[in-house]
Amino acid sequence: MTGSRIGVVGLGQGRHLARWATRTGLDVVAGCDLDPARLDAAEEIPSRSPDWRDLLGLDLDGVILAGDFDTHAPLAVEFLDRGVHVLSETAACTSEQEGKRLIAAADSSPASYSFAENYVCLPHVRLIRELVGRGEIGRVELIEADYLHGLSPEAITGLLGPADHWRNRISATAYCTHTLSPILATTGAYPVQVAAHAVVDSARPTAVVMVVRLSTGALAVARHGFLQGEPDSHWSWLSVRGDRGLVENVRGRGDDAWSVRVRMEPWAAPAGQVREEVVVPEPMPLGGEPVERAAEGTVAVLAAFRDTIEHGAEPLVPVRAAVAASLVGVVGAESLRRGGEPVPVPSVD
Ligand SMILES: NC(=O)c1ccc[n+]([C@@H]2O[C@H](COP(=O)([O-])OP(=O)(O)OC[C@H]3O[C@@H](n4cnc5c(N)ncnc54)[C@H](O)[C@@H]3O)[C@@H](O)[C@H]2O)c1
Repeated sequence: MTGSRIGVVGLGQGRHLARWATRTGLDVVAGCDLDPARLDAAEEIPSRSPDWRDLLGLDLDGVILAGDFDTHAPLAVEFLDRGVHVLSETAACTSEQEGKRLIAAADSSPASYSFAENYVCLPHVRLIRELVGRGEIGRVELIEADYLHGLSPEAITGLLGPADHWRNRISATAYCTHTLSPILATTGAYPVQVAAHAVVDSARPTAVVMVVRLSTGALAVARHGFLQGEPDSHWSWLSVRGDRGLVENVRGRGDDAWSVRVRMEPWAAPAGQVREEVVVPEPMPLGGEPVERAAEGTVAVLAAFRDTIEHGAEPLVPVRAAVAASLVGVVGAESLRRGGEPVPVPSVD
């Protein structure tokens, strides 16, 4: 039996996803990119074109959107309207209006929308979500997430690229989805208000801290961008304080960074004495073989997309959570312009 027929828009991160999609049993039949060099290089993809509209006529079951960060929503709507399942890279939308249009398209489509949020399924995040979900630390009061790169100034300039590249085009708060998605998935909450601050105040901040009030009443703190102290766990760190204890991944080196520390004081610990332990997340094999830990989130996202297309499983990160996480970046930009004033996040109901 052959897997579902998949097309890919954008062959940077998209080509990486295509390779893992093939390993998870999907059949990547088509790809597109505006860049002829990337198009030529992706010779493992049988049908290639510079124009994403060519994918609309190929009777695809699903499409992976991995073009420019700030361009995904209109394409997602177009594919959903034609009954093609969508897996979209992060961000989902760049405005409230775009987000509402995307939700309406997903609600009325026979196909599904999934957010390609590998960060909710990285090993430490999976384990923390499981521990919080089991009630190990009680009700969540404070949740903090980092997505940080400790690059040199020269490396940052190199990564940002030319002035018209999407990395320069987007606001300093926009790329918050790799922190907000784990926060929302762990708490089951929605963001209601955001206050954003530049770490170093400048016309173009390279790192921001956002303080987000959640619908459960808990407080979230998200840090992303370029800041020294990069976590070895695929640039991601997550810490959750409940009203009975703490879980967080260890700020250690190499594989130690995936491990999760649990801390409870004697009054809250079942044994009546301090509970201080470090738990190693279970590996996530693919086809019986171990995969590198940093790739586990990607494998989980693609396996979930396959199961959504082929078995009607619920999307791993559905459209409302995707739009909510993306709108934090949109609203955060407004807060930044207003000197850190708290700004309400539009509802995604
Ligand atoms: N989840 C993750 O871990 C992760 C990692 C890297 C990138 N990403 C996301 O993937 C997306 C792409 O990132 P990237 O690093 O590959 O960026 P990139 O700029 O290197 O590549 C984007 C590619 O898309 C192509 N493209 C843009 N618009 C197009 C269009 N309309 N039709 C066809 N091709 C088009 C460009 O020519 C370019 O080759 C972004 O949304 C980014 O946030 C996610």
